[in-house]
Amino acid sequence: MPHKRITVPDILAAKGNRKLAVVTAYDHASARLADQAGMDALLVGDSLAMVVLGHEDTLSVTMEEMLHHTKAVARGTQTALVVGDMPFLSYQASIEEAVRNAGRFLKEGRAQAVKIEGGREMAPQIRAMTDAGIPVMGHVGLRPQQVARMGGFKVQSKTAEQAAYLLEDARIVAEAGCFAVVLEAIPARVAAVVTEKLPVPTIGIGAGGGCDGQVLVFHDILGLFDRFTPRFVKKYAEAGKMLTEALARYASEVREGAFPGPEHEFTISDEEFARFMD
Ligand code: KIV
Repeated sequence: MPHKRITVPDILAAKGNRKLAVVTAYDHASARLADQAGMDALLVGDSLAMVVLGHEDTLSVTMEEMLHHTKAVARGTQTALVVGDMPFLSYQASIEEAVRNAGRFLKEGRAQAVKIEGGREMAPQIRAMTDAGIPVMGHVGLRPQQVARMGGFKVQSKTAEQAAYLLEDARIVAEAGCFAVVLEAIPARVAAVVTEKLPVPTIGIGAGGGCDGQVLVFHDILGLFDRFTPRFVKKYAEAGKMLTEALARYASEVREGAFPGPEHEFTISDEEFARFMD
């Protein structure tokens, strides 16, 4: 039976009715696992730079790398909405560049939507992309692509003024056309107010339980990334430890001659083998 893909209108309709579960995915295997687990959406996050490609932050990942991984995720997904995360400098320089690059995520990557970081200053890009038929997910609060300006990954909107500014940013990006807005690393009470005031779903990461949905990084929740673990992450498995143990067992069985066993070997008939030895 073909699976029915979750659509942008489905995500919009979830507001106030059910919570949305979103996780990042970067390749075919992780996409299949997350899709089979019943996620509403898979985000091919630019966190790819850190958890898959080993960069220090998200700034270095390129359009080509993001597209390469988005294609693999799209091929591994039957039900979840696939959202491609636009990398640093692929949408900031001009509206035209933003629309062209966003379009590549749909046309080449086969994603159903894109995500961009930014508040009011990104409204023209969001409007132009939406007008071109490209659904856009917003992202306010902590914006990892602004790490150089912010001096690190820090909780945002801790003062009343900053919270009001964030609320206005979220309102503006929703008004510009975003079908959902990621709220990253902001106080839970602020996120709950933003959620109440926005007409579109908020997807929280480090923004508390009052959001309309949650997103976390695949490698964080499964214990596959050990460089650091943000406070807002809950680990649902220690897959990293389990995989290392399995690999170590394989290595020692190879060294001891215990692998491969007869059950892993191919056979040849006695007759053919005798002819071969002649
Ligand atoms: O790149 C990313 O993983 C994100 C998050 C919202 C998790 O942008």
